[in-house]
Amino acid sequence: MKKKLLSIILLGTLSIANCQLSMAQSAILHADQPGAVIPKEIYGQFAEHLGSCIYGGLWVGENSDIPNTNGYRTDVLNALKALKVPVLRWPGGCFADEYHWMDGIGPKENRPKMVNNNWGGTIEDNSFGTNEFLNLCELLGTEPYISGNVGSGTVEEMAKWVEYMTSEGDSPMARLRRQNGRDHAWRVKYLGVGNESWGCGGTMRPEYYADVYRRYSTYCRNYDGNRLFKIASGASDYDYEWTKVLMENVGRRMDGISLHYYTVLGWNGSKGSATQFTDDDFYWTLGKCREIEDVIKRHIAIMDYYDPGKNVALMLDEWGTWWDVEPGTNPGHLFQQNSLRDAFVASLTFDIFHKYTDRLKMANIAQVVNVLQSMILTSGKQMTLTPTYHVFRMYNVHQDATYLPLDIQTATKDVRDHRTIPMLSGTASRDQQGKVHISLSNVDLQNAQEVTISLQGMNFKQVTGEILTSARITDHNTFDKPDQVKPTVFNGATISGNTLKVKLPAKSIVTLELK
Ligand code: AHR
Repeated sequence: MKKKLLSIILLGTLSIANCQLSMAQSAILHADQPGAVIPKEIYGQFAEHLGSCIYGGLWVGENSDIPNTNGYRTDVLNALKALKVPVLRWPGGCFADEYHWMDGIGPKENRPKMVNNNWGGTIEDNSFGTNEFLNLCELLGTEPYISGNVGSGTVEEMAKWVEYMTSEGDSPMARLRRQNGRDHAWRVKYLGVGNESWGCGGTMRPEYYADVYRRYSTYCRNYDGNRLFKIASGASDYDYEWTKVLMENVGRRMDGISLHYYTVLGWNGSKGSATQFTDDDFYWTLGKCREIEDVIKRHIAIMDYYDPGKNVALMLDEWGTWWDVEPGTNPGHLFQQNSLRDAFVASLTFDIFHKYTDRLKMANIAQVVNVLQSMILTSGKQMTLTPTYHVFRMYNVHQDATYLPLDIQTATKDVRDHRTIPMLSGTASRDQQGKVHISLSNVDLQNAQEVTISLQGMNFKQVTGEILTSARITDHNTFDKPDQVKPTVFNGATISGNTLKVKLPAKSIVTLELK
């Protein structure tokens, strides 16, 4: 066995050195050892009042000449419906801790303007507020995730917001909602009690925030059958102390604790171009992106210590790539392009998320439109889907499916900053109809890989698939060339008995369906 593994690794290493060779890899799909259901919420999205995420991205208003449905861009709505967005976080991010929800309700002409201090000093006219957001969620069939203002808001303000959204009775806030044209309460499950409370959300110490959380969350009530799932503002990346202090001092008073992890070069200076980068930069990106696994594991280990029964969920409510903004755009608007490299960050990240769903119950990529690693880019009437969008669409077959362990033997590569990446990544699941889906990413920029997968505990007759690849790893979609990177039919897989053979071209992401 050891000898076989060594020969696989040697073969892989040789192939990396000699371009254009095809590497042989093997894997076992343990369909006979099914794991947990993959919660669809790990495919969640995030929409902040930042740059053109809301205004111009999701919302153009009823009077716009951009085709819209009650003010929401119709093209973006349709694209998001196809994505099956399970949950949408709003209104921030850092914006949330300066947002006063009462400024965003009632007749639009009466809504006060504010300065968006976090994001470029842009004037926010509050024309997109609570009603507009919750109605959007209803249109999309998406669970809303409200991020409440702890940093600069009051306990009373947050408590009344919950009442406005979810109370059916004759309460003051329910009456106010009715005056604003909405009779029945919405259903709101997820409530974030602050965001990045260690930073833009109030620069608090974890001990202090733990008490603040306890106080605010006490007054966020469950009205009329609505059950809140309260989420404490969690750590940034490697800040394990924050998680420890919250687990110690808040414990089961929170239903979930958040975590933020960005694939970013560093917080000072240039973060690198989204579209002009070297092969070495690409591999570095994958190393940094995959480090999320170690970070998740270490936060989970702390949670396991204080909460062995896994009652408190880990909610990775911000993740994704963070590059320099596109030249000529407002640096505070975080508008970045999205290449095939970003698509790999998405696929490799999901491969990791699927393994930790006994604790990881939600993840929200930052952000849905026009900000950071977005699904969609818009400019005026134009819209394009990003390579990341296509991965989310190709992977949505795994939502609420049963995880199947996929044991991949693969060559590895040492990359910058002392990290090591596997050359082949993947994940698998079985959906409620019994179909098995396998997603595979060949991260090798030069070499195809032939994978032989032994299917344990099942037999299938038919395999079909989709592939996402392009001539260059820097390829991306623009408004002039929106289809530069898009999925096509994949014919490179064959099945015989319980052996599946897949020939993955260099730099490709594939999702297979076995029936
Ligand atoms: O997603 C952009 C910003 O990143 C969010 O507003 C903040 O929470 C994080 O620092």
